[in-house]
Amino acid sequence: MANPGELRIDRATSDDVPLLAEFNRQLDEDEPHPDPLTLSALTERMARWVATGEYEVLLLRRGARVAGYAAWRPEDRGTYIRHFFICRDQRCQGWGRAAMRLLRRDFFPQDRPIQIEAAIGNAAGIAFWRALGFQDFGLSMELKAGAPPK
Ligand SMILES: CC(C)(COP(=O)(O)OP(=O)(O)OC[C@H]1O[C@@H](n2cnc3c(N)ncnc32)[C@H](O)[C@@H]1OP(=O)(O)O)[C@@H](O)C(=O)NCCC(=O)NCCS
Repeated sequence: MANPGELRIDRATSDDVPLLAEFNRQLDEDEPHPDPLTLSALTERMARWVATGEYEVLLLRRGARVAGYAAWRPEDRGTYIRHFFICRDQRCQGWGRAAMRLLRRDFFPQDRPIQIEAAIGNAAGIAFWRALGFQDFGLSMELKAGAPPK
């Protein structure tokens, strides 16, 4: 199981963008999106986030090994985690829980609520957030503007 002391969190740099885009592609597989972006669009967006700080992108590392990544930013309503991803071969060993503990201690404002959105079909993701103490808050819904009106 995870030894939390082994985990380190570093700010991503432009060198990390290809790896992060590939992780983002895997995340989109794990939490299917109705309109997934192509790898090149994911790469472009990730490069922008890293370059501009639109989101703070953080790599989760265990020594030389990358365990996953997170992308977050402060918003009006609280700390919004846009992406949270643990590498497939390192899941269910406590690394996600350990990473959230470090993020809360070292990165996130202490006085703001932390918010996430999970796709309704992402049972593992939802179970993870609930196990960490997150409470159900809202339900996101969507409709294509061009769909026939009902
Ligand atoms: C969700 C995710 C981040 C969990 O990371 P992880 O390192 O495997 O999680 P941990 O091992 O720290 O698990 C912590 C707790 O979460 C719960 N949990 C984690 N994975 C679970 C699963 N597949 N099914 C049910 N519960 C799960 C368990 O309660 C677990 O505690 P336990 O091990 O004491 O039972 C990881 O599966 C992932 O990256 N998934 C794809 C991306 C994703 O869905 N991100 C969240 C988007 S909303």
